[in-house]
Amino acid sequence: MRAFAAPALLAAACVVGRAVPLPAPAHPQDLRAAPSAPVTRAEREAFLSGANIVGEAELSSGARQPWRVSLDDGKRKHDATVQTSTSRDRSERDYRHNIAAYELDKALELNLVSPSVERTVNGQPAAVTWWVDDVLMDELTRRRQKIEPPDLEGWNRQVQAVRVFDELMANAYRKVSPASYLSTVWDNLLITRGWRIRLIDHTRTFGTARELENPESLTRCDRTLLNRLRQLNAGALKQQLGRYLTSEQLDALETRRALIVKCFDEQIASRGESAVLYDLPARQ
Ligand SMILES: Nc1ncnc2c1ncn2[C@@H]1O[C@H](COP(=O)(O)OP(=O)(O)O)[C@@H](O)[C@H]1O
Ligand SMILES: [Mg+2]
Repeated sequence: MRAFAAPALLAAACVVGRAVPLPAPAHPQDLRAAPSAPVTRAEREAFLSGANIVGEAELSSGARQPWRVSLDDGKRKHDATVQTSTSRDRSERDYRHNIAAYELDKALELNLVSPSVERTVNGQPAAVTWWVDDVLMDELTRRRQKIEPPDLEGWNRQVQAVRVFDELMANAYRKVSPASYLSTVWDNLLITRGWRIRLIDHTRTFGTARELENPESLTRCDRTLLNRLRQLNAGALKQQLGRYLTSEQLDALETRRALIVKCFDEQIASRGESAVLYDLPARQ
């Protein structure tokens, strides 16, 4: 987590408008020690929904969407990104997909996606997403620099869960073909200092394909994830995601969900449960 310690700097950033410079962050340790720091997903959601925007800045990419904000609820401070793009065109981005991805991650108890809530910003509906601190590198950097994870099996288990999730969402990012190995879309997978994966930027997800793109890459699955996938029927999906997705997107999602469950059930029948299922460590 992140803190902005100097009140004078904070006050200077209180003008709401684009590209107000953010104050320099204090050492991350400072906020970790704060007793009221939002830690659970519910606390982070409440903070993202209610805290005041006290500073805004462009991301280093210089793109207009998303942009970075500093939030302050009077007790604690943290950064977030704001995404307001609203296009149902598959070649464009939709802020609603960021929230739908987070809600789906919650329903699956995956804990890979950074919390994201819907909120009005500058008069526009937006996805406001928790800023991931302690980022060691993103996956594109890891691949370019050929950095091996310290715990390969633990890493592969996380990556396999990401793979299942990406097939479920029909993610236009994070394609697994060899040609896409060094695609810049892999910078949407962040790696924190403890080699934990955090997923961001789901603006181009929830495609309407009614088939899986790379079913052969689905070789293992976290046990809780598969159980949750079994339980997540069309009614539950509509209830939890209907606010953010069209009925066509929901129908396709339900079709892919059933295909993923079938894919793993067939493998369990042929290769045995212990070869297919594993348990990801508990995640916050
Ligand atoms: N919630 C976040 N936490 C940490 N870094 C982020 C977050 N959101 C975006 N970033 C950084 O900004 C970059 C661009 O943001 P992203 O949402 O992927 O937009 P785009 O790909 O459209 O430029 C990311 O690759 C990442 O480096
Ligand atoms: Mg991105």
